[in-house]
Order: sequence, then structure tokens, then C-alpha cells
Amino acid sequence: MDRPEGPAVGRRDVIGGLAAGTALAAALDAGPALAADKRKRYVAVGVGSRNRMYQQALWGPHKAHGELVAACDTNPGRLDYVAQQASKAGARPPKPYLAVDFDKMLREQKPDAVIVTTPDAFHNDYIIRALDAGVDVITEKPMTTTAEKAQLILDAVKRSGRHIRVTFNYRYSPFRSQVKELLMSGVIGDVLSVDFHWLLNTVHGADYFRRWHSNKAISGGLMVHKATHHFDLVNWWLSDMPVSVNATGKREFYTPEMARRFGLQGPHQRCHTCPEKDKCTFFLDLAADPGLKALYLDAEKYDGYFRDQCVWRPEISIEDTMNVIVGYAGGTTLSYSLNAFNAWEGYTVAFNGTKGRLEHSVVEQGATAGAINERDEDRIKTRIIPMRGEAQDIKPDTGAGSHGGGDAVMLADIFDPNAPKDPLMRAADERGGAASCLIGIAADKCFETGQPVRIESLVTGLDWPTLPKMPGHKDRVPMPMRLQHG
Ligand SMILES: NC(=O)c1ccc[n+]([C@@H]2O[C@H](COP(=O)([O-])OP(=O)(O)OC[C@H]3O[C@@H](n4cnc5c(N)ncnc54)[C@H](O)[C@@H]3O)[C@@H](O)[C@H]2O)c1
Repeated sequence: MDRPEGPAVGRRDVIGGLAAGTALAAALDAGPALAADKRKRYVAVGVGSRNRMYQQALWGPHKAHGELVAACDTNPGRLDYVAQQASKAGARPPKPYLAVDFDKMLREQKPDAVIVTTPDAFHNDYIIRALDAGVDVITEKPMTTTAEKAQLILDAVKRSGRHIRVTFNYRYSPFRSQVKELLMSGVIGDVLSVDFHWLLNTVHGADYFRRWHSNKAISGGLMVHKATHHFDLVNWWLSDMPVSVNATGKREFYTPEMARRFGLQGPHQRCHTCPEKDKCTFFLDLAADPGLKALYLDAEKYDGYFRDQCVWRPEISIEDTMNVIVGYAGGTTLSYSLNAFNAWEGYTVAFNGTKGRLEHSVVEQGATAGAINERDEDRIKTRIIPMRGEAQDIKPDTGAGSHGGGDAVMLADIFDPNAPKDPLMRAADERGGAASCLIGIAADKCFETGQPVRIESLVTGLDWPTLPKMPGHKDRVPMPMRLQHG
């Protein structure tokens, strides 16, 4: 039987072999109606907030390309919720499996790929079990949270011959892809250093201190959970690999002391039962938002997980203020900062090249949490400043939808077998996944020890990803224009 083939899980796609055969076998097992179904079979593990993007893709624009045949989670309430959402979308509800039955799900469903969207520290377990069962993986970022787990994943890919796709959606935002194109064009020459500063505000940024993300053992801290996006962007923008990391980090805002400085008695357990909810403007009302209520408040009775823990709790183990220096194999240095209590959310990045400077900035959320696409012309700026000469403002490429339009482009790249070949090579595998999370893991080690960390000391066998060619650090560059005096 012919199966639609293509770059469904990236450029090193090997799904067409064993996995295609197993999907066909499953379809035949399921009877004549399914045997005629040529769509790829996907299963998901961890069906909380982020998984909805994949569900909506497979129930909407990509329903002709794939089906979500099963969903797996520790929380039966969220499994029920997925089934309800599928029915509302007119799709067949995915078969529910509790997390203890993950391997059974693989055996019974014989999927082409597993979509991993659990909290970060659990990715490795499902990734490795899927690979060893001969199934490809699509995993959310960060690929994993520790060097030991990264090593286990790298080994499992080599052992199994299967494929991992790490869904770095930030690469796909049209204006960030445009930055890559500008850098590839050589307009600023080769890049000697990068200054990159990411700001999280007290709406979205504060949320990391309420959820599982506030526990470093589960999220790896913001250096891993959040900055993995940013480190990946730099690795990809430069087509380079990190070699050394130095960093400092602290938590000085989301603290019990800060609660008292704001006039509260101190931290409490959670917003829902908070005695000071009227005074605290960081209060989150789960009951007031139908989505949050259904996904988390109503599902608490199954696992006791509170989505609205107090942001001032003493037991929070992640930093809110982080500064990092990264050295790259090609010689470029990155100066990066992340802090989580800012007046607006977004970033500024500048590439200092041998022919000039590229400046790029994005306001993702203003102080009042506006949407990124409301006024792109004001929110997204890209500028080329030659070493000598007139600066040029570049009209940013933009798109519609979440993450600046990046999610839709990435989903097409993942699910659509007819997606065009990507000259920017935005599909990342375990090599890109590891390169990015290892910078964050190294930064966390620096926080603990005060010592720099070499990436090669963390894992072995990390190969270079295949990435677009960039202007070389030894290429000839034109002498800049003569300065006019007098
Ligand atoms: N690329 C992006 O822009 C982006 C955005 C948001 C989240 N994410 C990533 O998506 C993943 C999920 O984040 P989220 O915001 O959806 O979190 P979430 O808390 O909303 O959902 C996590 C789900 O996993 C389930 N779960 C917890 N432990 C599990 C286990 N051991 N086995 C199976 N299921 C388990 C939970 O019950 C929940 O349903 C994370 O890795 C996060 O980093 C990526």
C-alpha cells in the first residue's frame, strides 16, 4: 500500500521503514475501514496545555495527513478533556491510556510517532521507550533537563536508528527566519559576538513561578525550560555549536521577602485559597477561565497538582535573574540575559559582524499583555547598520497565530508530507536539542559552582547538526568606506 511519504518528522526522516510497516499492520488489524486510511498514526503523552496545539493541528489543517489515535497522561481528568475536545472538533476521540500503560499503548496502537508534551524532566523516559520500541519521536523543548538524560537520549538514537524531532517553534517565526536569511546573506559579514537579552513580564513571566516550572528538578529552571528556545535560536542563527559557558543566577524577586515588601503578610500555598487574594495583584483565578478550570482546577482531584501556586513561596527553586556568556566553536561569543519580572516581555538581540551590525527586537507582550500580532509594525524591528554608512530598517516578515506565526509554519513542516524543502533547515533533531539544553544545564552548573563549564565535559558523541552555511570567519571582507573629515 502506498503511504504518503515526506518530511513529516524532519530531514532525517526514516519513518517510511519500520514505522510505516507497523502503522499499516495496525490499520489492517483495525479492519477494512482503517486499512484504507493512509494517514500517519500519532499518539501523545502529556496532554495538558501545549499538546492542544498538536491536537488542533491534527483535528484541523492536518487532519488529512495524520490522526491522533491515542493519548496518555497521569491524569484521567485531562484524558477525558481531550476526548471531549476531539468530539467538539468532529474528530474521533483518541484512545485514553494512563501513563503506566505507555508501553501497552505503543504495542496496541503501533504509531508512526509519539508526541511528547509532558513536563520537561519526564521527556527522556518517554523518548527512550519510544525509540527502543522502534517508534519515532516528536518532542517539545527542552529535549531534556540534565546532562545524564541527554547522554541517554543520544545513545538511544544511535542504538535504535529512529528519529527525534525537537519542536523549536521559535525558529519558524517569519521575522526570526528573516534574521537567519540576513545573516546567511553576509550583509553584516561574519558574526564575532551576539548581545541577546530576553525579558519576561509579570504576567507570563510570573506564571513560571506558579506552575511545575518553579521546581528545578522538573523544569531544569528557566535556563533549561525557557532559555533553551533562545540558545537554540543563537546556535541556529550562527550555524555553530557551543563549547563553553559561564553564568550567574539568583532569585531576588519571587521571594517571601518581596511579598512582604509589597505589603502582604507573606507567601501562601496557592491563589485559589489565598487569604490575601484581594491585595495580591499576582493572584490568578483559575475558576474564572473556562480553559484553565477544565484543564487544571477540575482535574486537581486526580493528582493534587495546583496550577496556581503562590509566586512568593520559599520552596521555589528556580532563578529569576540570569546572565550567561557562551563561547562558540567558530569563535563567536554570546552575551545573554534572562529575567522574569520585567515591564514588558520580548527581547533585543544584536549581531556584531565584520561588515556591520544587525539589531532585532520584538515586544511580545506589553505591560498589559497585548498580543504579538496586534501592531507588528511597532512591535518587531530589524535594522542593519553597516560598519560605516547609513542604517537601513528592514520591514519584518510576519505571520498570523501563536508564536508570531511560527507554530503554524512548524506544524506544516511536521505533518504535511508536501511541505516544501526548507533552505533554512529549521527542523531540529537530537543534536540541536542537546546543543541547546546543554547550554542551560551548563549555566545551572555555573550557578552552583561559580566555575565555567565546557560542553564536551557534559556528554560524549554529540555530533554537529546539519545547518546552513554561513559567512566564514576567514573570508575576505571589503575595507569599510573612507570616513569624511572636515
Ligand atoms: N514550544 C513552546 O512554545 C512551548 C510552550 C508551552 C509548553 N511547552 C512544553 O510543552 C511541555 C508541556 O508543557 P505544558 O505547558 O503543556 O504543561 P502542562 O502542565 O499544561 O501539561 C503537562 C501534562 O503532562 C501530564 N503529566 C505530568 N507528568 C506526567 C508523566 N510522568 N507522564 C505522563 N504525563 C504526565 C500532566 O498531567 C499534564 O496533562 C513542556 O515540555 C513545555 O516545556 C513548549
